[in-house]
Amino acid sequence: MAAADVPETTFNRSSPQSPAHFSGPISGEGYQFTAAYAKDAMWARGLRDFFEYRELGIQAATGGQFKAHVLRVRTEETGERADASGLHTTGLHTHALGFQMIYILKGWIKFIYHVENDGNTRVEEHLFGPGDCCLQPPAILHNELECSEDLELLEVTSPAHYETQAATQK
Ligand SMILES: [Fe+2]
Repeated sequence: MAAADVPETTFNRSSPQSPAHFSGPISGEGYQFTAAYAKDAMWARGLRDFFEYRELGIQAATGGQFKAHVLRVRTEETGERADASGLHTTGLHTHALGFQMIYILKGWIKFIYHVENDGNTRVEEHLFGPGDCCLQPPAILHNELECSEDLELLEVTSPAHYETQAATQK
């Protein structure tokens, strides 16, 4: 086999992937290997009453530095999916965290963001569907307006636990 066609897979001690040589803000030191299988998925209550959350093991594996979970509309005790028309706005709020991104796996969700740029604030409405992704910078003022009943959304935050503060409309 021609060497040029083979991807480099040999571990290199000087690789930037090695924590000792990683110069970024996150060393990864102490992180554990983890794998979460769909067949073992557990769904639990979380920040918003109308959602349920599947934690993907990242929180424990990173000592709480990160969390990755999938959100979906909560299933009622009857086994039915909660009525999406009851998913009223969350209200304008901020999160005290360092990193937050969302990636839509299924369905759709609509947000309002107050985007700060050069001292100016732009109010933007965004409708996200499958494959769409958004970085929500620290403390950005935002509001979830509505979502589809079949919404599934991956959210990654750092740290895993953070404060959420409701805001009053300016
Ligand atoms: Fe939020």
